[in-house]
Amino acid sequence: MNKKLIIAIDGHSSCGKSTLAKDISKHFNYRYIDTGAMYRAVTFYVIENKLYDGKKINEEALKKDLDAGKIAIDFRYNPKLKKSETYLNGKHIEQEIRGIEVSNLVSPVAVIPFVRKKLVDLQRAMGKEGGIVMDGRDIGTNVFPNADLKIFLTADAEVRAKRRYEELKAKGDKVSIEEILKNVKERDYIDSHRETNPLRQAEDAVLINNSNISISEQAEIVTKMIEEKLLEN
Ligand code: DC
Repeated sequence: MNKKLIIAIDGHSSCGKSTLAKDISKHFNYRYIDTGAMYRAVTFYVIENKLYDGKKINEEALKKDLDAGKIAIDFRYNPKLKKSETYLNGKHIEQEIRGIEVSNLVSPVAVIPFVRKKLVDLQRAMGKEGGIVMDGRDIGTNVFPNADLKIFLTADAEVRAKRRYEELKAKGDKVSIEEILKNVKERDYIDSHRETNPLRQAEDAVLINNSNISISEQAEIVTKMIEEKLLEN
């Protein structure tokens, strides 16, 4: 039997990491873990519980709640939509975590070292058996440095903002493309410049810029890479 691989997909915000991860997890019948959703879930908790006053995150209270197990994140498969969805303390929060309010605060939350430690431990536990596709910012560099295949995905900032704009518009969110582009650039900056596990391409990662390639083309390219890895194992 083939070894169950660990596939790490890292890259910039809104460049289609989750689309690629979902496509290949479906193809190989692997579990997909969206680590960004985990940082978003913690951010949602911060907003809901008023641990952010518009200027500062109340880190002391957040640490207390995290350590006390008050922030339980899990993914549950929705058979109707054929995708796994994010839950916080048993509550479905998939829509809430994709909105602009969470998007604007998630990078500052993801900078906090004790938040990262907690979520990274959880991610390692979720993926240790293999047979997973995990996407994020530090999967190939930190969560699974020995992943069987590492992809570093990117696209030009303007292309990413336009894609995100179309996605939010379709959902009825009223945001301008300028606001999204600003958010995309800000997140790139914060994600790449933070002290703990910044976003960077792992030395052994394969770089894919998908500005000019289609979703199906990128899935095909990565599927071939995985098939080659499976033959090696
Ligand atoms: O992939 P996303 O846009 O849903 O991620 C949301 C934020 O979470 C992003 O700004 C950076 C952060 N993040 C991170 O720091 N580490 C990860 N492994 C995944 C996401």
